[in-house]
Amino acid sequence: MIKAVRGTRDLLPPETALWNFVEAAVRDVFRAYNFHEVRTPIFESTELFSRSVGEETDIVSKEMYTWEDRSRAESERGQSLTLRPENTAGVVRAYIEHKLWDRGLNKLYYIGPQFRRERPQKGRYRQFYQIGAEVIGPPSAGSESPARDAEVLELLATLLDRLGIKNWNLELNSVGCPNDRAVYNEALRKALEPVVGQMDADCQRRAVTNPLRVFDCKVPADQPIIDKLPRISEYLDEPCRQHFQQVQEILNAVGVRFSLSDRLVRGLDYYTRTAFEFTHGALGAQNAILGGGRYDGLSESLGGPPAPGIGFAIGEDRLVLALKESAEAVQRKPDVYIAPLGAGMDREAARLAREMRRHDVVVELGDESFRLKKSLETASKIGARFALIVGENEVKSASFALKNLETGEQVSVPRAELAQKIQSSH
Ligand code: HAM
Repeated sequence: MIKAVRGTRDLLPPETALWNFVEAAVRDVFRAYNFHEVRTPIFESTELFSRSVGEETDIVSKEMYTWEDRSRAESERGQSLTLRPENTAGVVRAYIEHKLWDRGLNKLYYIGPQFRRERPQKGRYRQFYQIGAEVIGPPSAGSESPARDAEVLELLATLLDRLGIKNWNLELNSVGCPNDRAVYNEALRKALEPVVGQMDADCQRRAVTNPLRVFDCKVPADQPIIDKLPRISEYLDEPCRQHFQQVQEILNAVGVRFSLSDRLVRGLDYYTRTAFEFTHGALGAQNAILGGGRYDGLSESLGGPPAPGIGFAIGEDRLVLALKESAEAVQRKPDVYIAPLGAGMDREAARLAREMRRHDVVVELGDESFRLKKSLETASKIGARFALIVGENEVKSASFALKNLETGEQVSVPRAELAQKIQSSH
């Protein structure tokens, strides 16, 4: 038997109803904040990710699905391509390629699959889905303003609240500006020097290649060492500190709760200044429901003009997991099951179904070869609220037997009033 590849999975009804519910709610919220959808390719040049996410990150160094193109054209042959592990790099590439700075501030969102070769577990897959957004534009369009950071965070709080996700926690940090980052990295290297030998091999490698990454080390034995390291918050230069302060002031003004977390460094290299994660208790080890931050230098590092930006990506799989208990409530059951009785009645049933679906009634259509008992049983099994019986007499009199499957009550309803009768009984 051929099975879905490890770390990938099929999404089946009724769970797909939950995914659609989430995506519809998200699109509504994005509309209210004037975000517009962007769709970038699912694979890109490998170089795009190594230059943006960073060579030394786990994502680029061990998790990407990369292959050499087998194109017949000489010019394309051997080109290294990669399934996108995240979508920020693709959006910034598109920003540069299409000169989107002409549009001023771009507020873009995306919904789609991403790919990372991680060890699969609950809430962690190799093909997973992100709902993300990026606010990016030239500095003259206000893209650097702390108001943008706060708007994005407030949008997220609104979205989670609207979806009914309770008990989320916003962890906020500033990972600094280029000036202070250099000084801080130096201080970190110094502090690590005498202790690094006692750390796990992976943490040791990080200490050399990118000391900030040490904060991401999960090995329990190394935590006491990490706890004693200097923090970026003590090294922020004045403009950077003020920017972070202003973000917090707006959040307080609009009533979005957060906690400061100066160990939060994020697993991608492009971040500057504001960095954040929203965690959720019910998710277990993979408790980050979303993450994001500012990436003010990313456009330049990809050969573009200065284009400060801030964004986030929600792990949709994790969001749905957090909502799972309510799956039943979200899926709309059929309003009515149409039961054609006897030869020639499939045709009449199809006509009625068409009429009612036009009025937004959810209809399931039966089969004229079924006996009435089997039709009623099927109607109950699929959870329909009503069964509508369509026999020769009903068609002649243009009045149909409508049976309420919850109460058992049966009434005769004229054809023209059917849709309204069914809808008004919610
Ligand atoms: P990230 O933190 O790598 O950030 O991913 C964002 C979210 O995607 C995570 O918080 C998690 O919920 C979900 N996620 C990541 N990996 C997996 C996985 N293997 N299985 C299931 N869910 C996963 C980014 O990707 C950045 N591009 C976010 C961003 C946008 N920053 C600025 N703009």
